[in-house]
Amino acid sequence: MFKKKNNFDYHQENLNNLEEKGKIISELEKGEKWKKYGENKNDNQGWWMVIKVVAVSKYWGAHLKIHKSKKFPDKKVFLVDLLSGPGLCEVTKNDKKEKLIFPGITLFAASRNQNTRYYFDKIYANDLDFENRIILKNRLKNLNQSNVISGKIDYYIPKIDQKYKSDSNLIIEDILEDIKKEGKNFFACLFVIDNQALNIKWETIEKIIKFHEYCDLIINFPNTIFNRIWGNRKHEGARKKIESFMGMPINEINSNNEAMELYIKKLKEAGKEIVKKFEVRAGGTTGGFHYTLLFAVRKTANDSSWMSIIKDLRKRYANMTGEHIKHFFDITSNKQKSLITYS
Ligand SMILES: C[S@@+](CC[C@H](N)C(=O)[O-])C[C@H]1O[C@@H](n2cnc3c(N)ncnc32)[C@H](O)[C@@H]1O
Repeated sequence: MFKKKNNFDYHQENLNNLEEKGKIISELEKGEKWKKYGENKNDNQGWWMVIKVVAVSKYWGAHLKIHKSKKFPDKKVFLVDLLSGPGLCEVTKNDKKEKLIFPGITLFAASRNQNTRYYFDKIYANDLDFENRIILKNRLKNLNQSNVISGKIDYYIPKIDQKYKSDSNLIIEDILEDIKKEGKNFFACLFVIDNQALNIKWETIEKIIKFHEYCDLIINFPNTIFNRIWGNRKHEGARKKIESFMGMPINEINSNNEAMELYIKKLKEAGKEIVKKFEVRAGGTTGGFHYTLLFAVRKTANDSSWMSIIKDLRKRYANMTGEHIKHFFDITSNKQKSLITYS
């Protein structure tokens, strides 16, 4: 009988997989000068990104299995990462002496095994930062030229031109146009909106929802950062940011604590009737820092069966923070025998 993995093995396997992919991709750029990693600030930051990348990938694993089943042989499935970063993330410990390099959303998806049916037919990625776009493009090129993946990844990164409007709130038009061209066949899309602040405006989210009923969204609702900006709402800049992110006048939001629920209500009213939450927490000295991944889909006859993955994720990560991931890194690297037990 199929035996469910215990939590320890589950987390260890996920971390090993990310570490392994990070090593393979880094190896391809050995000697290159353009390396750059996302969110590398200090030893206490960023470890929560591991949880985020794993959670998003578990979702697309289940999502691809359904959408690319034998029942729909011609169906194309796309991934759109509107805030992609440079592709690899680096987190550190022990005064930066030890580090873990692992792929972010786009590169983790790109490095999926194309021998199976379960990969994205095309990956769209964009980042405001000109350098991030160049680096990500180089990394995708490297993957395509290597024998790491069996096929070739079809990808779209907007013009590498410094003057080009690179805000994803504008680029979205070009991306949707391009998907329209590709989508002669029946298609499905997964949009990952990995906000680091209040980056992607509500009007952009609305455009995606209206574009096609089979566009699922995973939105990072940045709770801690929202609260910080909320504290400055007397300043015009902060108020405008909140209003364009939420798509409503500030006087309709009674308090910061209700903002996320209001946002979820709007998602539901716009056509994504099912919205599931998954909280990512930093833990350790970074204390209360957290954000919530909102998985938003429309209601279907089978209630989008792949959404059950969120329930599993919540159980798996019920007691896990970024800080715990840092400890796990010791264990997976065999540097320290486990003092903490997860079962
Ligand atoms: C949280 S990081 C992304 C991490 C990435 N998803 C990963 O998995 O590694 C957010 C990124 O969004 C970019 N960004 C912020 N505002 C943006 C916007 N309006 N349009 C495009 N990119 C933006 C930043 O430059 C930053 O690299």
